[in-house]
Order: sequence, then structure tokens, then C-alpha cells
Amino acid sequence: MAKARTTAFFCKECGYESAKWAGQCPACRAWNTMVEEPVAKKENSRRAASGTVKQASEPVKLSEVSIEEEDRISTGYRELDRVLGSGIVSGSLVLVGGDPGIGKSTLLLQVCRNLAAAGHKVLYISGEESLKQIKLRANRIGEIRGELLFLCETNLEDIEEAIKKAGPQVVVIDSIQTMYRDDVSSAPGSVSQVRESTNILLQIAKGMGVSVFIVGHVTKEGVVAGPRVLEHMVDTVLYFEGERNASYRILRGVKNRFGSTNEIGVFEMREQGLTEVENPSEYLLSGRPEEASGAVVACSIEGTRPILLEVQALVAQTNFGMARRTAAGTDYNRVNLLMAVLEKRCHYEMSRYDAYVNIAGGVRMNEPALDLGIVLALVSSLKDRPVNPKCIIFGEVGLSGEVRAVSMAEQRVREAVKLGFEACILPQVCLERMQKVEGIRLFGVRNVREAIGLI
Ligand code: TYD
Ligand code: MG
Repeated sequence: MAKARTTAFFCKECGYESAKWAGQCPACRAWNTMVEEPVAKKENSRRAASGTVKQASEPVKLSEVSIEEEDRISTGYRELDRVLGSGIVSGSLVLVGGDPGIGKSTLLLQVCRNLAAAGHKVLYISGEESLKQIKLRANRIGEIRGELLFLCETNLEDIEEAIKKAGPQVVVIDSIQTMYRDDVSSAPGSVSQVRESTNILLQIAKGMGVSVFIVGHVTKEGVVAGPRVLEHMVDTVLYFEGERNASYRILRGVKNRFGSTNEIGVFEMREQGLTEVENPSEYLLSGRPEEASGAVVACSIEGTRPILLEVQALVAQTNFGMARRTAAGTDYNRVNLLMAVLEKRCHYEMSRYDAYVNIAGGVRMNEPALDLGIVLALVSSLKDRPVNPKCIIFGEVGLSGEVRAVSMAEQRVREAVKLGFEACILPQVCLERMQKVEGIRLFGVRNVREAIGLI
């Protein structure tokens, strides 16, 4: 009889399981990420984690399933509620990922404080910090009132007990990489531990109707299993991103079973913790240089919100045979493509110039509507002629140099009016379909050459 397999190979990036080792993960194509780990022993599948025998479920008609309307809890932060899809759904499992030190613990502690103040029972479980450290942090973010309980624990069996005893509405697990189960023999942070631990939390969330927030670190080297391993198990995945040395942070929804993704929430890290940024456009445009060439204001839609931002380009004569190109905050290949369009359709000799494109403020935006802004920033820098600082630009650029329609043109224009812009360059097609907007001059363009003519 063949011996039962006791170990398997797992990808540290995506959790792919394979019987043999490979240099490259067949699923996510990452190199050197397969590690050998013991396979979790299979329990009797009729037996739930608590030891009680599970009842077989009966199929039901969807029309007979009742939904209670008020089962969403507000986090006290409008920015976070929007990303979650108007509040926390009871019994949901939310993963908050991000680089170490970006502010995940701070954000969740502040959310716990708000929830406790609103009369909810909250349990914060930390496997990384001692109670004293949490207290120091809590002192910085302000007074804590209401039922907010803390627990320093990493063993999941004990955590399950504690949750059953305390009966909270919301639980925070900080972080999943420090948690372990006794019956899984690999080290905390390994793929199987992270996966099995999440499984228990999933049962707790669904079985007891508790909302669970899980913190997961993203690590560049992949020393511990990253949050991608459990993305498919949880209901909602949020990533907290931002430059460590810039003060603001963006919370981005990547997956959401209870709302739309692509919504973002903007926060600023201050001395007293995180504060919401209600008007990100104003924030991103503050400190803009006056009359500088190579800087234009573009508009990107994030979820349902238009956000104005500054696109900067620097085009300089190249000193070597090969021109250098960099893109910070936007897609590098897209910038290369736009430069090729300029070269071929408008006859600028871009190959003789180095070009650096940057989205100011350390944010990342990839919407095609930024194309026209990038193109005009490049041309402005090349000719060393500033663009009118009261003008905003949006539109997608196609390979033959045509400017194509983008969605929600009217909302973009209205946002620009709100922030005091006086002119707007937009695709002609959008202009024809749009209703009249007061207080701004609109210039429709059909191709890149027309747009360059305007500036
Ligand atoms: P933290 O929440 O510990 O990060 P994570 O849990 O994602 O690893 O945040 C740590 C950073 O935030 C740290 O570098 C200090 C900074 N910080 C402030 O600037 N102000 C504050 O009030 C707090 C609590 C933290
Ligand atoms: Mg932390």
C-alpha cells in the first residue's frame, strides 16, 4: 500500500499546493516561492472545530431567505465605511493587508475605539504587541470608552474560547502571521498555519455572527506567507498603502462580497493617529508649483469619486545612446506607449530624450483617463511651456493618437468646478453627450494634435 503523503509543497505567494517542488510556481509564476510543509491532518469532516457533530444542511429557496436591513455597523469613519460598502456586515471576515509599519494596527485600534464608544462590544487580540505597548498607542489616539477588551494571545484554540466567553460583536486579529494551531505542525506564519488559522476564524465568524478583522502583512521577500494566500477565503480584502515617508495612506478595496471594489478611502497619519481626508483632490493638489512646465492636473475616477491629481513629467536630453524612462505612481508600459504615440503621430523625437513621469503625492492611479494628462505633461516639459494651472485634462489616448471617450465625464467636470478650475480639455465625444456645466470653459478634442494645439 502506498504511504500517505505527510508533506506537500506550497507557494508562499499564492498558496498553490503541489506534490513536488518547482522553481517557479505554476499558478502565480513567482520564482523560488515553493516551500515544503507538513499537510494538516484531516479531521473527521462531520465534526466541526468545536467538537460538536454538524447537522447536514437542507437546501432552501432563495426567496425564503430573510435579510435583516440593520445588520451593518458603522465604523465611525466615512472613508472606511465606503470601502466596506456602507459599514461592517455582521458575520463577515475582512482582511486588512499592507506593508509593516503602514498603520494597520493604528487604524483598527481607532475603529475599535469608535465601535466601543458607539456601544458595541469589541475584542482586540494582538499577537505582536504587549498590553503595555497597546496602551501607549491608545494614549496617543485618545480616550477609550465603552466595552473594548484586549487580549494578547497567539494560540487559536485559546482565542476561540475567549471569543465564546466574551461574546463580542467585532473581533480584531493582529496579525494572522503570528497565530498558530496546535494540530498543525509547521511554524506560525507558514502557509498551512495561516490557512488553517483563517479557517477557524471563518467558522467563528459565520457560526457566531461575529465580524472579524484580520491583519496580514505583505512582505517583499515573502519570508512569511502573505495575505494573498487567504484572499479567496475571506469576504472582503482591503489593502492599506502609501509611501512610508509621505503622511497619507490609501485604503483600497480589492475584493468585496458586500459592496463595490475600487472604492478608496484616504487617511492621513498624524501625531494623534490617523485622520480622515474628506476631500482628497484638494489634498493632492496642495503645494502645487505655479507656472512650472511639465505639470498638469488630471482626473481619475476611483470607485464613484472623481479625484483630481497632478501629473508631472520631466523630459531631458539623453546623454547615453539609450533613453531612460521611469514612471512613478502609474503604469510604466502605458507611459512608453504614450511616448511612442507622440513620436509616431505628432513627430516629436522622443527617443532622443529621457522622460520621467510622476503622479504627485505618492498615490498610484492607473485609469486610462489619465493618458491625455500624461501626454500633455510630456509635451509641456519638452517645449518648456507651462500649461494653464487652472485647466484640467482627461481622456484616453488610442494608438492612432485619437482621444477616446471616458466614463463619468460630467462628474469629473463638476469636481473641477468645485475646486475652482476655469477650463477643461476633454474628449469631443464626451462633450457632445454631456449636459451644460456652468462656470467652466470646455474644450473638446478629437486627437492628441488638437489637444497640443490648445496648450
Ligand atoms: P502601525 O499601526 O504600528 O503599523 P502596522 O500595524 O501596519 O505595522 O503604525 C506604525 C507607524 O505609524 C509608526 O511608524 C508610527 C506611526 N504613528 C504615527 O505617526 N502616529 C500615531 O499616532 C501612531 C499610533 C503611529
Ligand atoms: Mg501592527
